[in-house]
Amino acid sequence: MANVVVVGSQWGDEGKGKIVDWLSERADVVVRFHGGHNAGHTLVIDGVSYKLALLPSGLVQGKLSVIGNGVVVDPHHFVQEMEKLRGQGVTITPEILRVADNAPLILSLHRELDGIREDANSGLRIGTTRRGIGPAYEDKVGRRAIRLVDLSEPDTLMPKIERLLTHHNALRRGMGLAEISAEAIYTELTSISDQILPFMDQVWRVLDAKRREGARILFEGAQGALLDNDHGTYPFVTSSNTVSGQAAAGSGLGPTALDYVLGITKAYTTRVGEGPFPCELDDEIGQHLATVGREVGVNTGRARRCGWFDAVLVRQTVKTSGITGIALTKLDVLDGLKEIKVCVGYELDGSRIDYLPASMGAQARVKPLYETLEGWSGTTAGARSWAELPAQAVKYVRYIEELIGAPVALLSTSPERADTILVVDPFQD
Ligand code: IMP
Repeated sequence: MANVVVVGSQWGDEGKGKIVDWLSERADVVVRFHGGHNAGHTLVIDGVSYKLALLPSGLVQGKLSVIGNGVVVDPHHFVQEMEKLRGQGVTITPEILRVADNAPLILSLHRELDGIREDANSGLRIGTTRRGIGPAYEDKVGRRAIRLVDLSEPDTLMPKIERLLTHHNALRRGMGLAEISAEAIYTELTSISDQILPFMDQVWRVLDAKRREGARILFEGAQGALLDNDHGTYPFVTSSNTVSGQAAAGSGLGPTALDYVLGITKAYTTRVGEGPFPCELDDEIGQHLATVGREVGVNTGRARRCGWFDAVLVRQTVKTSGITGIALTKLDVLDGLKEIKVCVGYELDGSRIDYLPASMGAQARVKPLYETLEGWSGTTAGARSWAELPAQAVKYVRYIEELIGAPVALLSTSPERADTILVVDPFQD
């Protein structure tokens, strides 16, 4: 019996929601271990669509759902999302939802700062989700964050807020912004604390107990490995570690608990926000992928940039996240294309390389080297067995496996849960 970590192997939006939902059915516990409500996971169950940002996808299945210490939690968003799901008929109680007592909180001042930085003409626009994710992680690493457990100690909350504001008000003065009063933050937090505190727990202990019971634990990654703060296209990344190793640090279960790493991989490439994208297509093919693939952000409504499959990047992710197998999604978006290109290497300043260099300048200069494959005329949409796939589509999948050095464990052929071809059950591996 294995525990499974799900990570995005590209820049996010690979279709993790559906796969996590599919795996949740087989799991006993679902854990979020990094990021916050910048994630956008869509689950379609019996034609009903559920959109999750912060809460673990397992909730919709009634599975024990855990928000780990690696997540930054906006308490107001937490309550709103919970209410929205309840409105769709999902039962949410402290019995099935736990939030780490040591999780740092996102405050209104983080959201404001995120937006101000994005709008500033600093020459480096990241294109963030403006949810306050980056500033909240900065405070965590700076050892001045307000954590969930602090809400349970109102007597000592005020000095913690004052310490936090020593930093933020200095920053605000420098930017010509009005200072924030400690009372305002105190009220912001105490007005919501009784709605979130019932869910607080020592999640590392909950998970340890579950593990010893033999429960199957699913770690639900958000964003994608190329947005990882260390291994991604820095500085055009998110502020957390999105690679699989974070599942251990961000939940409090040691790395020996992570058995199978499933990399969710789109059959082509997309990216939201700014930053390098070697295979980006500004032509009618890029438009075709965007339209047929409905490439619009779940949370922000932003159009996603689209391009051919980049095997160099996914091969790199397979290594940095120790991916055991991939779940290939959205193959049907390529249906009907005459020919399909795959990036197999890069040219950098006249030399061929087989990796994405770390330097921002070099990342902007690499040129994709493509191999061209014949497309297929039949459809892959809704296929539930390999036999239903056109021969050329199978060839494309096999080619990708070979290039990235990881096998396909699952093939998703539509947003519906049942339209999934299982090759290997990650929990049984
Ligand atoms: P932040 O996480 O809001 O700070 O945004 C940093 C970068 O990560 C931006 O390029 C965002 O577009 C990107 N990003 C954050 N969350 C997601 C996601 O769930 N899917 C895709 N991109 C994301």
